[in-house]
Amino acid sequence: HAMVSEEMREKLNLYGQAHLIGFYGELSAAEKSQLENQLETIDFALMERLFRQTQEQKAEPPAGIEPIPCAVEAAWTTQEKQNYYLRGMEILRDGKYAAVTMAGGQGTRLGHPGPKGTFRICVPEEISLFEIQCRRLKARSEECGRTIPWYIMTSEENDAETKRFFRENGFFGYPEEDVVFFRQFMLPMLDQNGKLLLEEKYKIREGADGHGGIFRAMLKRGVTEDLKRRGIEWVYTGGIDNVLARPADPLLIGYLAANHYELGGKSIIKRDAYEKAGVFCRKNGRPFVIEYTEIPAELAEQRDGAGAFVYGDAHILCNLFRVDVFDKMGEEGLPYHAACKKASYIDAQGRRIEPDRPNAYKFESFLFDAFSFYQKMGILRVEREREFAPIKNRTGEDSPETAQKLYAEAAKERSAL
Ligand code: UTP
Repeated sequence: HAMVSEEMREKLNLYGQAHLIGFYGELSAAEKSQLENQLETIDFALMERLFRQTQEQKAEPPAGIEPIPCAVEAAWTTQEKQNYYLRGMEILRDGKYAAVTMAGGQGTRLGHPGPKGTFRICVPEEISLFEIQCRRLKARSEECGRTIPWYIMTSEENDAETKRFFRENGFFGYPEEDVVFFRQFMLPMLDQNGKLLLEEKYKIREGADGHGGIFRAMLKRGVTEDLKRRGIEWVYTGGIDNVLARPADPLLIGYLAANHYELGGKSIIKRDAYEKAGVFCRKNGRPFVIEYTEIPAELAEQRDGAGAFVYGDAHILCNLFRVDVFDKMGEEGLPYHAACKKASYIDAQGRRIEPDRPNAYKFESFLFDAFSFYQKMGILRVEREREFAPIKNRTGEDSPETAQKLYAEAAKERSAL
């Protein structure tokens, strides 16, 4: 018979979260056990700490920031390019490479119903963001004569729908046995008083734990183990929403491997001092990405003698890691950042409330916070027009309209894998 354990009741009282079982008596047996199971997975002490963090004064401007050097693809000689390309292709051909697409986000700004990867752009035929990634991987797999294993990170919210989309579309012709889905973890959202929210009377509102959740998810869901079993050495991670992302670029692979980096990423020059993107730098001697919300204006605007931004290399969520990084970072745990979002909830009277302004804290970790666990990383500056066309907003900057245009222009120039 379903029942909230005495232990759980005590815990909820201790943490001031007893309202979560306020409707318990009204629930069906199935709903009761759903709620109990969910309660068991929640780390209330962590949630209390995270709430306390949101109440603390904002930290002072980050100290110990210095510029970080990066390689510039456009400055490489033909010979250098050739060498890196061959080295990268060798790794691909030897089956030592896999790609992970991070598609667990909510895509709130775009507001597309369904997983963001199912969103279609016209270029000029309609194609979904998942299929765009798939085509690039397929073309590269053909080129190197070996299928690149493709891992897709989903969230509890969109996992079933994502898998259905792949099935309905015949996996876009990708070998099914080389496509692996795994779910990232979730964290409860908190209201302005630190209370967890009920999404339903039997369900606590949770959100995906950010793209930094990839490390823990890969470790705990057995993905890291699977990679090793397959003999994978290098792993790409990238978002789903950059229609020019290259999930298997031999130049980056070759560059990192030849220079013995454990991790690396691509950058593009920011379009102006205040572009909404984090930029690479060093903080206390370690690689770091400083967010646009946190960089002091004088650093954002600072230029060198040649007129170039000193902190101008924007991080585009296109990274490569040696497989061991996932072991280490899966255990380490990254810090959580709080953002205020709109979240509907059931109030104490059992009414559903649809807030018209942000009312809840969502906690996310960021993939790039992993960088400072390492002494150095290889950063490769690439050309924006060829590699970066994200879909973030419904209209305006970084929208389907801008992405379609950039995609079409890049396609004219050459086949961009
Ligand atoms: P963003 O941080 O831009 O979030 O994700 P988003 O979900 O696309 O959009 P908004 O902020 O809600 O409007 C960048 C990439 O990281 C993935 C996203 O799916 C996207 O590919 N991501 C983000 C995850 O996989 N999990 C997360 O928890 C967050």
